[in-house]
Amino acid sequence: MSHLPLNRAAWNRLAEIRSQFTKVATDEECRAPLKTLDSRGWLPASVEGKQVLCLASGGGWQSILYASAGAQVTVVDLSNKMLQLDEQEARRRGLQVRILETSMDDLSALRESQFDIVHQPVSTCYVPDVEAVYREVSRVMRPGGLYISQHKTPTSLQITNRDQQNTYVIGLEYYQQGPLPKGDDRSYREEGATEYLHRWEQLTGGLCRQGFVIEDLREPVRADPSAPVGHFRHRGRYVAPYVRIKARRVEHPAHGESPAAIWVP
Ligand SMILES: C[S@@+](CC[C@H](N)C(=O)[O-])C[C@H]1O[C@@H](n2cnc3c(N)ncnc32)[C@H](O)[C@@H]1O
Repeated sequence: MSHLPLNRAAWNRLAEIRSQFTKVATDEECRAPLKTLDSRGWLPASVEGKQVLCLASGGGWQSILYASAGAQVTVVDLSNKMLQLDEQEARRRGLQVRILETSMDDLSALRESQFDIVHQPVSTCYVPDVEAVYREVSRVMRPGGLYISQHKTPTSLQITNRDQQNTYVIGLEYYQQGPLPKGDDRSYREEGATEYLHRWEQLTGGLCRQGFVIEDLREPVRADPSAPVGHFRHRGRYVAPYVRIKARRVEHPAHGESPAAIWVP
């Protein structure tokens, strides 16, 4: 079976059991939505009236926070159950959120150059070709638009297990092709999901090739010196699990805009 129905089923299941990824925005978070979304100060001071795409963001967190901050929000996800949470929370709070069920690498239902901000939590690991996602994001973004995305790092996905000395073992090749096999170490993997490793040149170079410049890059810290061996925060001391990238769309390769037509704040 292809990765899409498998991942839809896996995420529907995670939504049903209300996994940690289905934590909807709280009242307190909605009172300071931008601070909650963005502790690094990457977002503009206001997103009021901005067109925001929350990509692969079902679960009722990002969409609700952006809508609480006054943005015009579209949320895309493969899982109808994750999207139900956005729908339910938007209704409960009297917010407008447009819901679209599709894969992140097929945004054909969205017209080009319409979004000021695209915000994507960890999710590109669920598709085989990260550059296909970037191509679609580039198409639907306005020149000058901001693309914030978070990804699993390749090294983290290469770890398969711990050996007898409790050392985390890189058991998969960096040039791994196709779906990742199951390993014993599941700390940063989701049950039942089909995942793919994207190399650094794909994660960062792919962005550049699709008309983005990278303005900042952070590694969210998951290390805790007091965490017991095997705990995800113990593993986080040795390998950064995630990378967060701030990118700006400066030109649209497919449409050959002249530099004069590009707005860079
Ligand atoms: C880590 S969760 C993100 C949701 C959550 N709101 C958060 O704050 O982290 C990853 C999301 O990616 C979605 N997803 C998986 N494969 C996808 C695909 N091919 N296209 C769009 N969304 C996908 C899942 O359904 C899930 O909602």
